[in-house]
Amino acid sequence: MGFLLLCFLSLLKPSSQQFPRACTPADNLMRKECCPAWSGDGSPCGELSGRGSCQDVSVSDAPNGPQFPLSGVDDREGWPSVFYTRTCHCAENFMGFNCADCRFGRFGINCTARRTSIRKNILELSGAEKDKFLAYLNLAKSTISQDYQIAVGTYTQMSNGSNPMFRDISVYDLFVWMHYYVSRDTLLGASRVWKDIDFAHEAPAFLPWHRAFLLLWENEIRKTAGDENFTIPYWDWRDLESCEVCTDEYLGGRHSTIPNLLSPASFFSYWQVICTRSEDYNNGNFLCDGTPEGPILRNPGHHDRTKTPNLPTSADVEFSLSLTEYETAPFDKFANFSFRNTLEGFANPNTGISNTSQSSLHNALHIYMNGSMSQVSGSANDPIFLLHHVFVDSIFEQWLRRHRPLQDIYPAMNTPIGHNRDYYMVPFIPIYRNIEFFLSSQELGYDYDYLTEPVQLIFSIYKYLQGCEYNQELDDKPSEQN
Ligand SMILES: *[C@@H]1O[C@H](CO)[C@@H](O)[C@H](O)[C@H]1NC(C)=O
Ligand SMILES: *[C@@H]1O[C@H](CO)[C@@H](O)[C@H](O)[C@H]1NC(C)=O
Ligand SMILES: *[C@@H]1O[C@H](CO)[C@@H](O)[C@H](O)[C@H]1NC(C)=O
Ligand SMILES: *[C@@H]1O[C@H](CO)[C@@H](O)[C@H](O)[C@H]1NC(C)=O
Ligand SMILES: *[C@@H]1O[C@H](CO)[C@@H](O)[C@H](O)[C@H]1NC(C)=O
Ligand SMILES: *[C@@H]1O[C@H](CO)[C@@H](O)[C@H](O)[C@H]1NC(C)=O
Repeated sequence: MGFLLLCFLSLLKPSSQQFPRACTPADNLMRKECCPAWSGDGSPCGELSGRGSCQDVSVSDAPNGPQFPLSGVDDREGWPSVFYTRTCHCAENFMGFNCADCRFGRFGINCTARRTSIRKNILELSGAEKDKFLAYLNLAKSTISQDYQIAVGTYTQMSNGSNPMFRDISVYDLFVWMHYYVSRDTLLGASRVWKDIDFAHEAPAFLPWHRAFLLLWENEIRKTAGDENFTIPYWDWRDLESCEVCTDEYLGGRHSTIPNLLSPASFFSYWQVICTRSEDYNNGNFLCDGTPEGPILRNPGHHDRTKTPNLPTSADVEFSLSLTEYETAPFDKFANFSFRNTLEGFANPNTGISNTSQSSLHNALHIYMNGSMSQVSGSANDPIFLLHHVFVDSIFEQWLRRHRPLQDIYPAMNTPIGHNRDYYMVPFIPIYRNIEFFLSSQELGYDYDYLTEPVQLIFSIYKYLQGCEYNQELDDKPSEQN
């Protein structure tokens, strides 16, 4: 049994972020090729087994909006082409930088079984489930990623690839770093930076990017813990007056004498943050290199109340869901009546009119935590980030189910750099386009406990029966998180 499990895990091993360890040597960077072998048959991308093949990356040339007027100065432009122009293209059921993984929602040796994983309310988990979640977070924080490294220099600093600059990182911190890297300012040299740039926030890719990010994070935790059924729980913060998960039983209570630290009874008080010192990196013209920068800071409710008078209400969420347009011009934080901009929190949650001097809905939670969560670049250091973003994703899911949009309502061009429909999401490798996550979570193999209502169940049974006509192997049973 133990042997079988190990054997199974070794087949599942690598997956999908930057930078695959197998692609960080100078040779790969100079050839701009990231097509590692799949250990199952030794061929690049598992080609001999039909899992995928090494292909040229075709970067979209749709024009970007005016927010970033420069070009040829940022490694994230035309992602991933500054680093790699050939990557694995995986067949239907497969995924990962070498096609070793199953696509989201597929399981089994050949990735043919389908299962829907259910994300649950953290307050409704059993004590054992909750303890397991906390233990998995700790494991991810203390386990060095076997598959990925972080870049600690820009492509220029790496002398165009001939002098690779990469470093090991833990599975948890890999995601903290990626969230920093996607949102960081453009370094222009000699302390000069361009600040109006963010490949994952303040524009239409905000929701699909975070959806992909959470799925990848969940997937890495699954592999690290050897638990293919793990799902990240959510925190439903609607109508609350305080942070009910800020207790030692959950994500850490307040320190008894230092109000912006966590209580020593919570093991999160021993965690170290990374990537929080944007001003230092900007002034020194270097990237965050994963060096520990002190404890998690959190001081819930001690934020500036003129910016965020209250935590979001059910009415705020309902109003955002009533907006029929996913996104509106100019596709940034000034967009009016945009579902994305309202849910992200740059618009008034009663009118949908942009107001950047207030922080509502998604942004309100970040500001409310008044600490590590409150700066975009380091916010993922606090594990409350996970619970919060999973709940935001569930609101996105409700909007998709209510409005059933065609994929072409997602803007194809003229959005801030990184946000067009076919742009490859920074900094994931292998590569995913924004539009690939602009579809119902059921298509990606997961659902929310509070959204699987009877009507929805009938719909999935119907889809299940439909699926069986095409593929006898489909196995569409919801799996419990355990
Ligand atoms: C997986 O696919 C291979 C190659 O097609 C096949 O030989 C094998 O029997 C399949 N295994 C299972 C469990 O379906
Ligand atoms: C890197 O490439 C750029 C653009 O092709 C070139 O101008 C520069 O000299 C190269 N630098 C090194 C160290 O090779
Ligand atoms: C915490 O809130 C105060 C205002 O109450 C604000 O001045 C400070 O910048 C906030 N700190 C963080 C880290 O957000
Ligand atoms: C949003 O609406 C406000 C109030 O009507 C208006 O002043 C502003 O120009 C609008 N912004 C955009 C980008 O249309
Ligand atoms: C934006 O919010 C601020 C702070 O609440 C408020 O004073 C201002 O009137 C609002 N602006 C608009 C255009 O609604
Ligand atoms: C995951 O769930 C499936 C379906 O409920 C079950 O067959 C499988 O054994 C579970 N895997 C693990 C590792 O618990």
